[in-house]
Amino acid sequence: MRILLFTGKGGVGKSTVAAGTAALAAAGGHRTLVLSTDAAHSLADAFATPVGAEPTRIAEGLYAQQVDAQLRFEQSWADIQRYLLRVLEVAGVDPVAAAELTVIPGAEEVLALLELRLHAVSDEWDVIVVDCAPTAETLRLLALPEALGWYMQRVLPVERRVVKALRPVLSRAAGVPMPEDTVFDAVERLYAELEEVRALLSGPEASVRLVMTPESVVLAEARRSYTTLSLFGYRVDGVVANRIFPGADGDDWRSGWVAAQDVVLAEAAASFPGLRLWRSVYRAAEPVGVEALIDLAREVYDDTDPLATPTQDGPFRIVRTSRGAVLSLRLPGVTRADVDLGRNGDELVVTVGSYRRLLTLPAGLTRHRVTGARVQDGELQVRMEDGTS
Ligand SMILES: Nc1ncnc2c1ncn2[C@@H]1O[C@H](COP(=O)(O)OP(=O)(O)OP(=O)(O)O)[C@@H](O)[C@H]1O
Ligand SMILES: [Mg+2]
Repeated sequence: MRILLFTGKGGVGKSTVAAGTAALAAAGGHRTLVLSTDAAHSLADAFATPVGAEPTRIAEGLYAQQVDAQLRFEQSWADIQRYLLRVLEVAGVDPVAAAELTVIPGAEEVLALLELRLHAVSDEWDVIVVDCAPTAETLRLLALPEALGWYMQRVLPVERRVVKALRPVLSRAAGVPMPEDTVFDAVERLYAELEEVRALLSGPEASVRLVMTPESVVLAEARRSYTTLSLFGYRVDGVVANRIFPGADGDDWRSGWVAAQDVVLAEAAASFPGLRLWRSVYRAAEPVGVEALIDLAREVYDDTDPLATPTQDGPFRIVRTSRGAVLSLRLPGVTRADVDLGRNGDELVVTVGSYRRLLTLPAGLTRHRVTGARVQDGELQVRMEDGTS
C-alpha cells in the first residue's frame, strides 16, 4: 500500500495534482482512493462530479471521498468537549463563548485524517492519495501525540486513578465536576488514534509531495514546509511545479513571465537537491474531469513512476558509534544558528524557528550527553556520548 500526500500554498493546484495522480494510479490498475479533508469540496470540482462523505466511485478502480470533518470532530471530541463545557459552565462562562473555547483551531482537519487509519488497515486500497490543507500545519499538529507521549504514559494513568478515588470528595468540595471515566477514555482513544495516523504518515509507505507555482513567494513557503515536514519526520519525496507558462514565443508580457518563472524554477532545483522536481504546464483550460486529469498527471510524471517508493532514508536516523551514537535529522535549508537543541528527560528537544519537536531517545541513549552538534548538507547531526565515561 502506498500513501501520497499533497500539500502547498493556497490555490497552487494541490487538488488538481492529487486528483490527477489518483486517476493515473487507477488507470494503471491500482485500487485507488483519493480523499480530501478540507471543507471546500474541491475534489468534486476537479472530477466535475458529486463526491460524498463515503468513498464515491469516480471511474474504474478510482474512488473519492470528502471527509466530513465536522462529523469526525464530533465523534472524537464530543466526550471531552462535554466535560470542558461543564467545567466552563461552573466557572460562569457564557455557554456560547464556552462552546467556542472548546474548539481548537485546525483540529477538525487533523481529526479528518483519522479517517485514513480505517482505510489503511482495510486492505481495500493499493493507493491512498490525500489532498491536504494548504500548509504543513495539519501535519505538524499530528506531532501532538509525540509531544504528549510522556504525559499520556506516565501522568494520565495516575491522574485517572487519583480522580477516581477522590471524585466524590473533590466534586463536592471544589464545586467543579471531576472528569468521568468516559473523558479519560476519550482522551486515551484520541491519543492512540492520532499516534497511529502519525506513524502511518511518517512510515516508509507514505510520502509527501509539495505543490508549488513558479513564483518566489510560493517557493519560499514550499522551502519552509520542506524544513518543517522533515523536522516532524515526514518524508518529502518530490516537488510539483505547476502552472508553468509554455515557453513558445509571444509578446513582452509573456516572455517576461517565462523568464521570471525560469529563474524561480532554477532556484527550486537548487532548493530541493535529491528530490524529484516534476513540471506541469499552465493549460489553456482548467484540467477538470478524469480524462483531463490523467492527461495532466501523465505530463507531470513523464516516464517516472508516480508510485515509486523513495529510496532515501527517512528524515531521522541513528548511527551507533563506539561511545554512543550520532543522531541525524534532515533539516533542509537551515544553518546551525537556526537550530536550538535542548534536553528534557529522555527527550531531545529540537527547535527551528517557531517549531519544536520532542524526539524521544531510544532506551539505550537516555543517559547519554550531547557532546556536539552541526548542520551539514541539510542535515542536523547530534553526537551523543555515554555520560559516565
Ligand atoms: N496546470 C494547470 N493549468 C490550468 N489550470 C490549472 C492547472 N492546475 C490547476 N489549475 C486550476 O487552478 C485552480 C486551482 O487549482 P486547485 O483547486 O487544484 O488548487 P488547490 O491548491 O487545491 O487550491 P486550494 O488551496 O484552494 O485547495 C483550479 O481551477 C484548477 O482547475
Ligand atoms: Mg484544494
